[in-house]
Amino acid sequence: MKKKDAKHRIEQLRLELERHNRNYYVLNSPEITDFQYDLLMLELQELEKMFPEFALKDSPAVNVGSDLSSKDHFEQFPHKYPMLSLSNTYNIGELEDFSNRISKGTDRPFTLTCELKFDGTAICLTYKAGKLFRALTRGDGTVGDDVTRNVLQIPSIPKQLAEGSDFPDEFEIRGEIYMPYKAFDKLNHQRELDEEQPFANPRNAASGSLKLQDPKLVKERGLECTLYHVLCEKAIAPTHIETLQKAKEWGLPVSGHFKECSTVEEVESFITFWDTERKKLPFATDGIVVKVNQLAIQTSLGYTAKSPRWATAYKFKPEEASTKLLSLDYQVGRTGAVTPVANLEPVQLSGTKVKRASLHNADQIQLMDIHIGDYVFVEKGGEIIPKITRVDINRRGFDIVPVEFPQNCPVCGTPLVKDEDEAKHFCPNRDECPPQIKGKFIHFIGRKAMDINAGEATIEQLYGKGYIKQLSDLYKLTEVQLLTLDKWKEKSVANFLKSLEESKKVPFHRLLFAIGIRHIGETTAKNIAQHFKTMDAIAAATREELLAIEEVGEKLADSIIGYFSNPEHKKVIGELKEYGLQMELDNTDKPIESEILKGMTIVISGNFTISRDDMKSLIEAHSGKVGSSISGNTTYMVAGEKCGPSKLSKAEKLGVKVIGEEEFMNMLKN
Ligand code: IVH
Repeated sequence: MKKKDAKHRIEQLRLELERHNRNYYVLNSPEITDFQYDLLMLELQELEKMFPEFALKDSPAVNVGSDLSSKDHFEQFPHKYPMLSLSNTYNIGELEDFSNRISKGTDRPFTLTCELKFDGTAICLTYKAGKLFRALTRGDGTVGDDVTRNVLQIPSIPKQLAEGSDFPDEFEIRGEIYMPYKAFDKLNHQRELDEEQPFANPRNAASGSLKLQDPKLVKERGLECTLYHVLCEKAIAPTHIETLQKAKEWGLPVSGHFKECSTVEEVESFITFWDTERKKLPFATDGIVVKVNQLAIQTSLGYTAKSPRWATAYKFKPEEASTKLLSLDYQVGRTGAVTPVANLEPVQLSGTKVKRASLHNADQIQLMDIHIGDYVFVEKGGEIIPKITRVDINRRGFDIVPVEFPQNCPVCGTPLVKDEDEAKHFCPNRDECPPQIKGKFIHFIGRKAMDINAGEATIEQLYGKGYIKQLSDLYKLTEVQLLTLDKWKEKSVANFLKSLEESKKVPFHRLLFAIGIRHIGETTAKNIAQHFKTMDAIAAATREELLAIEEVGEKLADSIIGYFSNPEHKKVIGELKEYGLQMELDNTDKPIESEILKGMTIVISGNFTISRDDMKSLIEAHSGKVGSSISGNTTYMVAGEKCGPSKLSKAEKLGVKVIGEEEFMNMLKN
């Protein structure tokens, strides 16, 4: 490869890997399989080795990806010892090289331990005087997020070690927090019912759950933990296995599936055994970790910037199957993004019959040179929809037809557009394209928007009947119309109308978010509302005035200007105004003071030293939601003087924590 090409490819790979790191560690929503990621990483590492003049200190090739959240969400603490990753291979033959490297690095005899590689999210627990002192995520390897409050909700992690056992006064133990398949299926089923995006796999679900703001919700997620690495100033035992044995005696959860091996052949047979056997385990594993068992040799081998030299991971190749691509469908999502979905000749894969697979975008089709009629490999790495990874070129026949990506929206016929910096094609017809119209309503009624008591199915029904097209049509709905809907009775109609009525009181910033101006998120909506105070002022703002707000970039400014220059939108806003929706900031629309109560629903009852309205504003100012009645979703009930006894007993029955005004105020101070 020429120097110039290598430089270009290295830069491309770095950017791509940084994006995938963010998708994986921060957003918990990977776009590619681990295998594809590891191939890109290997390519970058080899290129940086061949062209060291282009190797940078901050390259993803030599640094661990970061899972750090915003400092507002979790306090961050430095790791006492860096929290690194593992080198890996998919080639069993390379374990021989690993063992040879160790032999070269030491004169002393050594054995290798093999253990399961749990597919979860890394955790570092510190115990002091036998008590769980702190739990940190890996973060960027140097600093981690303090998730102690959440970890305390995981039953398999002891808060207190077994009395009378010989644990050191202070030590760290690291391991993996994972979500067993059963809990994962339950969670995703619930998310589908709640019309929330399901998690792609148990790993993402585990790391997403560990970062929840409400520890009570963490408890419901059914997380488990296994620990595999003890760190202490003074060695606990001479070997890794004996150290873990000790940890087990102290009451810590340590995996029983391990083996001490004297030869690489033994390591290989452990791997072969578990490659099949792991499918029977109730949780996900993605490989076998091989470590030097003697701790003194581990110490002398040491670490690279990214991983220990005394350990490596053999990773199982994801299960794949080759099958024929029969046709492609093009789905238009709520945002107008067009996704190709493959129809396949049914094939058996990881215990299920696969008929459909996702392809993401046109670039991927081109990159893989996929034709209709090709045999393609489908892979399922725990994801819900399997993915096509490549063409099975050896089975290519003569009856193949090139894929022609549609130029027009398959639903409404509008010419598709593709922004340079986005991989997907979009249908720009946001106001007329049916899936996008429905998407607009689903966004509008959402909990963080107008919070209208309805779901996707209701929108489908109303749209199907032709009752709604513009957002303002919702407020024109009549009882008679609603009673014509399948399975709707007086009570559901009354509830829906009441909820529509209540939505008219939703604060201005949420309405601004709800109307679905592209690129306006929840927080941006708040800031823009605070700045301009009224909808009319926003509609009249110039590009320069919009750009003067810190969070507003060019894309968003153009999007706002574009929205309000459309006469249809002006008409809808005018109608919403007539129906009495909040078009300007009012007194209760106070600036956000903190996010301490984010994700919490708080019910207040009784009298306080401040008025009930001030109490509600206080909750909202700290990003909490005020609940009207106690339910399973209530985080706390704040009980004042003369608090309602029925509310108290309901809180007790549902296990909702009841706190007093003073405790509540202290919470805000902390
Ligand atoms: S040992 C110094 N053992 O896999 C590194 N890691 O892909 C110590 N993992 O970062 C790690 N199971 O989060 C080790 N039995 C096991 C493991 C394991 C899962 C995770 C760990 C690591 C990642 C590397």
